[in-house]
Amino acid sequence: MTDFVSIKDCAAHVDEEVNMHVWLTDKRSSGKIIFLQLRDGTAFFQGVLRKNAVSEDIFEAAKSLRQEASFYVTGKVTKDERSKFGFELQISNLTIETNREGYPIGNKEHGIDFLLDHRHLWLRSKRPFAVMQIRNTIFKAVVDFFEREGFIKFDAPIFMHSAPEGTTELFHTEYFDHDAYLSQSGQLYGEVGAEAFGKVFTFGPTFRAEASKTRRHLTEFWMMEPEMAWMHQDESLALQERFLAYVTSQVLAKNQYELEILGRDPEKLRPATEGHYVRLSYDDAVKRLCEGGRDFKWGDDFGAPDEAFLSEQFDRPFFIVNYPVAIKPFYMKKNPANPLTYLCADVEAPEGYGEIMGGSERESDYDTLKAQLLDAGLNLKDYDWYLDLRRYGSVPHSGFGMGFERVIAWICKLDHVREAIPFPRMINRVQP
Ligand code: 4AD
Ligand code: MG
Repeated sequence: MTDFVSIKDCAAHVDEEVNMHVWLTDKRSSGKIIFLQLRDGTAFFQGVLRKNAVSEDIFEAAKSLRQEASFYVTGKVTKDERSKFGFELQISNLTIETNREGYPIGNKEHGIDFLLDHRHLWLRSKRPFAVMQIRNTIFKAVVDFFEREGFIKFDAPIFMHSAPEGTTELFHTEYFDHDAYLSQSGQLYGEVGAEAFGKVFTFGPTFRAEASKTRRHLTEFWMMEPEMAWMHQDESLALQERFLAYVTSQVLAKNQYELEILGRDPEKLRPATEGHYVRLSYDDAVKRLCEGGRDFKWGDDFGAPDEAFLSEQFDRPFFIVNYPVAIKPFYMKKNPANPLTYLCADVEAPEGYGEIMGGSERESDYDTLKAQLLDAGLNLKDYDWYLDLRRYGSVPHSGFGMGFERVIAWICKLDHVREAIPFPRMINRVQP
């Protein structure tokens, strides 16, 4: 059996003859020499064929290659100081697997709709490659961080009958002879997990029938929701800060190559790795908006431009704490210092990215929670199982939710969250 080397592992094989399986992204030739731009899913680099160094057949085969041809190559890895990647391959042999004309994505500018229509192919290009590699780093950072902090992963269902975040954005579905909704949050199940296992996190697809066409909204996105028994809000904020510091430091440690492809200045992420996130009260946020000349009343929810205004003022994520009760969901615990507000916080990303996480301490008293459910106009029958968590062994507990694509969009400095997920789902798109 032949061993194959990945492009990203080149550095360990300098001056060795290696076998690789690759695709062609681009080609250039000048009569006696052919430059093949290669990718293999781990990185991109250049292969070189010299007419006088390979057989006629091999040289002709290389000449015939079309964009996205797939083939095996053998060659010697050499240092290449001129390229950013630092290595290239002196190709001595090549065997074609597939070679077809007409690959629709070229090296010219394509419109975003064209690219999204061809997302199944676009994902092979450099930018999506870099974003998905960073997505993978963050996914792994989540799992490693919470394992280290003593959490277990706990899976919430996707078919639900409850509406934890309000009833306006639900995807309805027929479930045999019942009504059901696609999950808009795993939190209530996370609370079950917290009372059963202490500290848990859910991580999975989440659905919101958001009619809003903004650069921050998907109808299907991934949310990671930790839930911690015996934990008050202050400790949860400290955990959230440690968490984001860890995630950003992992990306800086593992994804220099990808950040460079994206043209993302790593130094812009450095402050986030250092912690010390400001805790701005909702009241102070309102003050800053008004002082900045924005028309904003206490009690309103922040719109994207308000959040952008605030988040331009910070070089790292920051908290906005203690929102008015009227604009947050029913399960939050009231702030004893001001019962018109909750013990809650959103995390805002810098550089205008706005909300990336949101959470709170949960109301743990049975009667109070029941009253809050009724106030929210929810049907007690649907939440009886949830009230059981307050009937039996109720404890103070807190949690939060991270919008995976929002975090990726900020870290990668994307224009829109649609680039942060392999197959974006938006009002006008469920394909491919
Ligand atoms: O603020 P949200 O609605 O909070 C919850 O669902 C809570 N149950 C979380 C918890 O305490 N366990 O959503 C949490 C995060 C937001 O901060 C945002 O980053 C992201 O999910 N999010 C979206 N991301 C992409 N598209 C959408 N339509 C999103 N809606 C929310
Ligand atoms: Mg929120």
